[in-house]
Amino acid sequence: MTTETGDMVAFAERCPLGQFSPMHPELLACPYAMNQRLHREAPVYRDPASGIYMISRYDDVVAMAMDHETFSSVMPGVGTGSMAASDPELEAILAEGYPNVSTMLTQDPPLQRRYRKFVDGAFAPASLKALEPFIEATANELIDRFIERGRCEFLEEFGVPLPLTVIASQIGVPLEDLPQLRKWTNAFIGNLSGQLDDAGRKRVARDIVEFQHYFVTRMNERRQQPTDDILSKVVNASIDGEQPLSDAECLSMLSQILVAGNETTASALTEGIWLLIQHPEQYARIRNDPSDAMIQALVEEVLRISSPSANMFRRTTREVEVAGVRIPAESICFARFAAANQDATRFPEPLAFDLDRQNLREHLAFGRGVHHCLGAALSRREMKISFRVILNRLDNLRLAADASPPQFAPNALLHGLTGLEIAFDPVRS
Ligand code: HEM
Repeated sequence: MTTETGDMVAFAERCPLGQFSPMHPELLACPYAMNQRLHREAPVYRDPASGIYMISRYDDVVAMAMDHETFSSVMPGVGTGSMAASDPELEAILAEGYPNVSTMLTQDPPLQRRYRKFVDGAFAPASLKALEPFIEATANELIDRFIERGRCEFLEEFGVPLPLTVIASQIGVPLEDLPQLRKWTNAFIGNLSGQLDDAGRKRVARDIVEFQHYFVTRMNERRQQPTDDILSKVVNASIDGEQPLSDAECLSMLSQILVAGNETTASALTEGIWLLIQHPEQYARIRNDPSDAMIQALVEEVLRISSPSANMFRRTTREVEVAGVRIPAESICFARFAAANQDATRFPEPLAFDLDRQNLREHLAFGRGVHHCLGAALSRREMKISFRVILNRLDNLRLAADASPPQFAPNALLHGLTGLEIAFDPVRS
């Protein structure tokens, strides 16, 4: 967490409330000092730039996540549909694709539950046990590719490909198509970033339409010849005689499984390695005692601190008061999961990387309530196996001597490093 610059801390501490926007790219990349101030002085802060209500305290975020009737996840106007609003060229690109529909993440119960039940089983801990050897083999293969170099760019060479390979195999996409999946994931992330210019929006729109056509072809294949992958489960889903899902519904679910799972797990893995490098005393403890319990503690503390799904949208369906602030109906709010994970009333010394916390699993990195992360068990398993394999095979992890300090990407919803150049000593067995 030490990419915080002195300037940004001073700015976040001194700028009068109401005059700074948490959506400023530098504050998105480096929100720690601002979060501490918002907890103390403005637990519900209306961003003057966007009008979004930022809800930052742990208890308020939990209450919000549990009250899906007041805080809806259906966000009219968010997604690719809204991109075209004032640009005929964009509209023409998107017209080649499929309409944006709200499913799990962007839907409320009871419809949200209906979509989830089609895929819940595939991500239940019991189904994931069988996946463990594949995750471990993938982690080892990725390390084989760079171990002799004594260094790697961890995000691109491990953080991204590990979850991408695992989820592609689960969805049922051939592994040679991974580069395209990566490109499409980036397009969806770009769309969420809130930082695109006109050219960027068009590029992203083209990529998303390409994603849709690729997957509709795969979906039609599974309609004719079902297998036991997620694609088959989604396209052939019909419970109690319900209508099968439309192409647009299937695409929405598949894009969520792809995007929600890849970038977040990649960010958590990468920040985990960066945290170990920055905290030699904790790193030494875990090297000396790489027991299941220690690695489990590492996974949970990395999830709390990294909180890759930093902010999520909600829309108020009625007027509501939070922490003494009246929020009108139809307001857009942010459930600030990452900020809540830095709330000192729940996590004393919240910026410390502390594997001995008594309440390690109380973090909100996976959200709470009906939208609690579908892939929580999968990403916990990916992180646990990855950290174990890395600790076994790469010793003396450090920032590469010629690397500049890693930086976090400015993104309104997601938090993660833009890269991490590391060096290490290969462990010879
Ligand atoms: C470290 C990794 C991950 C983090 C930090 C994370 C975080 C989250 C959070 C905070 C939510 C709740 C959003 C809300 O309340 O609006 C969520 C939901 C979701 N996540 Fe994850 N996630 C991770 C990995 C995954 C993986 C591997 C998958 C793949 C299956 C996945 C798929 C989903 C889906 C589909 C939802 C929506 C569930 C619903 O609304 O019913 N996530 N995730």
